Amino acid sequence: MKILVIHGPNLQLLGTRQPQLYGTANLEAINRELKQVAMTRGAILTIIQSNHEGEIADQIGKARGRHDGLLINAAAYTHTSIAIRDAIEASGLPTVEVHLSNIYAREPFRHHSMLAAVCRGHIAGFGSLSYRLGLEALLAIGASLAVPQPDARSAAPPARRPAHKAKSKPAKRRR
Ligand code: DQA
Repeated sequence: MKILVIHGPNLQLLGTRQPQLYGTANLEAINRELKQVAMTRGAILTIIQSNHEGEIADQIGKARGRHDGLLINAAAYTHTSIAIRDAIEASGLPTVEVHLSNIYAREPFRHHSMLAAVCRGHIAGFGSLSYRLGLEALLAIGASLAVPQPDARSAAPPARRPAHKAKSKPAKRRR
């Protein structure tokens, strides 16, 4: 599974930016941990950080067909960006939104996410662990996509035995 990870504006400052809210892990450490998890699960991550809304929309726009999922902390754009929301929707990729802080326990303007409705799910409030949980969710979604759904299986015609395993008819007994 190929996953695009996007960190939005000001997340390059993690480690020193309001550690009481965002923790002490810097972006490099978060990315390193994500890559380690991905490696053990056979997933490939492409990770970008950008402070620019258009750049983020561009990257999501190019992701269709190149990636199988999107893990995004759009940071402040979460609360304002219809452009990023539309890009996620248009990509058709399973997307998990993550936040280090619990945005619902903060200022009212952070309580609304423009992106949540076009994401498969949303994880907030666990510090850098939010990213790992988000990655786990995407990997689980990817794994479930690889398994035929029960409906699809019951609609399929019964599997035929491969020719080399076909039962030979019992020989007629001669009297
Ligand atoms: C954030 C929460 C946003 O409200 C804020 O603008 C951020 C970080 C988080 O990870 O907790 O920059 O996305």
